[in-house]
Amino acid sequence: MRKTNVSAIVGVQYGDEGKGRIVDYFAQDADIVIRYQGGDNAGHTVINDKGKFALHILPSGIFNPETMNIVGAGTVVNFNTMKEEMENIKNKSGLDIDNVFIDSRAHLILPYHCDLDGAEEAKRDSSQKIGTTKRGIGPCYTDKAARCGIRAGDIKDEEWLEKRLSMLLPKKNRELEYYGLKTYTLEELMALCAKWKAEFGDHIIDTVPVVREAVESGKRVLLEGQLGIMRDNDWGIYPYTTSSNPTVGGAANASAIPAWAIQKVIGVAKAYSTSVGGGPYMTELFDETADKLREIGGEYGATTGRPRRCGWFDAVAADYACYMNGVTDLALTKLDVLDSFEKIKVCTGYMIDGEYYSHLPETQLQERAKPIYDEFDGWMEKTSDCRKWEDLPEKAKAYILALEKLINTRITYVSVGPEREQMIIR
Ligand code: GDP
Ligand code: IMO
Ligand code: MG
Repeated sequence: MRKTNVSAIVGVQYGDEGKGRIVDYFAQDADIVIRYQGGDNAGHTVINDKGKFALHILPSGIFNPETMNIVGAGTVVNFNTMKEEMENIKNKSGLDIDNVFIDSRAHLILPYHCDLDGAEEAKRDSSQKIGTTKRGIGPCYTDKAARCGIRAGDIKDEEWLEKRLSMLLPKKNRELEYYGLKTYTLEELMALCAKWKAEFGDHIIDTVPVVREAVESGKRVLLEGQLGIMRDNDWGIYPYTTSSNPTVGGAANASAIPAWAIQKVIGVAKAYSTSVGGGPYMTELFDETADKLREIGGEYGATTGRPRRCGWFDAVAADYACYMNGVTDLALTKLDVLDSFEKIKVCTGYMIDGEYYSHLPETQLQERAKPIYDEFDGWMEKTSDCRKWEDLPEKAKAYILALEKLINTRITYVSVGPEREQMIIR
C-alpha cells in the first residue's frame, strides 16, 4: 500500500471531546484541513496565540495561514452563521481568513430547515426528545437524502437554482404549514441565495482535484470530525443521534479521500465523559461528583451553552469506538480535570435485566444498563504543567495505562489543559 500523510481526528464519545483543540495542535504543519460532516451544530474550542475561539462550521486549521481549509462535501452549511463566524474571528484574531473553501456538493441550510428543526423537536414527547442544537441539521440532511436539497454549487447557476427551488418549495411550504410556521416565497429564497453567491461564490469549488493532488503527493491532510460516535446516525444511540456519520467511514465518504488513504486515525476522548442532549448515557452521574466534573471541566456547551451531563469514562463504549473507527492513536484530553478526585471510576461492563454485558448493546438496552466500575486511586497533584510522560504523577500514568489496556488502543497524546502547548506526546 502506498504511504500517505492523511489523518482523521474523530470523537470517540458523545462529542465535545476536545477535537478542535487537537486539530489546532496538528494543523500547525498541515497543508489541508477538511471538516467532513455536520454543520454549525459543532462547538470546537481552540485556544492559541490568537486567543480563544469557538468554531462552529469553520475548520480548526484556519489559524494557520498556510493551511487550506475545506468545508467538505458531507457537511451542511448555513452561510448566514458562517459569515458571522468569519467576521468574529477576523476581528478577534486579526487574520484575514481567506483560506476557506466550500465543496460545491455541500448542502445548504435554508431558513426553513432551522424553523422545522425547532418545530419537529417540540412535537416529540419528552422521552423521545433528541435535544438538537436547532441549527437545522436534521431537516437539511433529510432533504439531502430525499434529493430535494440545495447544494452550495447550485447558487452559482441561477437558472438551475430557480428550477430546483420551484420544484421543492410547494412541498416545503406544506410542511411548514403543518407546523403552523411561516412559509417562504421563491423570490425571497432566490434573493437570499444571490446574496450568498456574492459573499461566498468564489470560495465554492470542486475540491476533488486539489484534495487528490494533496493525497497523491504526500501532503499533510487532516480530516476533522464533528461530534462523536455515540451520536453517529448508524452506530450511535439512534434515534438520539445527529443526521450524519462522525465515524471515520463518514470521513472517507465525505472528503474526496479513498478509505485506504486514511492511514492514521486519532480518536479523541476525555479522561471522563460528558454528553449534551437526550438519549441514554450509561455512566452519567447525578451527584456532587457530576457537579464537580462540570465546574472544574467547564462543561457547558460551546454552541448552546447548555450544562453538559457528566460521568465517568466508559471503557466498553470507548473500546467499541476505537474498533469501529480503526483508531491508531488515542488523544486523551482533560486529564487535569481529574487532579483533585480522590477516587476515579471506569466502566468495564454493564448489567442489563440481570445479564452481564462486556460489549456495547443497542440503544433500548442502554436505557436499562447499570454500569459496573473499576476504581482507581486519584493522583491528587497538579498535572497542567506536565509536558513529558515522565512528568506525570505515577498514579496518573497507571490510570492512563489501565485505560489503554481496556480499550485495546495506544494512548499516544495526553492533554493536560486547553492551551495549544499543554500536550504530552508519548
Ligand atoms: P470539541 O467539540 O470536541 O472540539 O470540544 P469542545 O471544544 O466542545 O469542548 C472541549 C472543552 O474542553 C473546551 O472548552 C476546551 O477548551 C477544553 N479542553 C480541551 N482540552 C482540555 C484539557 O486537556 N484540559 C482542560 N482543562 N480543558 C480542555
Ligand atoms: P461537537 O462537534 C455535543 C447533539 C445534540 C443532540 C444531537 C443531535 O462540538 O462535538 P443535531 O443538532 O446535530 O441534530 O443534534 O447531537 N450534538 C452535540 N453534542 N457536541 C456537538 O458537537 C453536538 N452536535 C450535536 O445535543 O443531542
Ligand atoms: Mg464541542
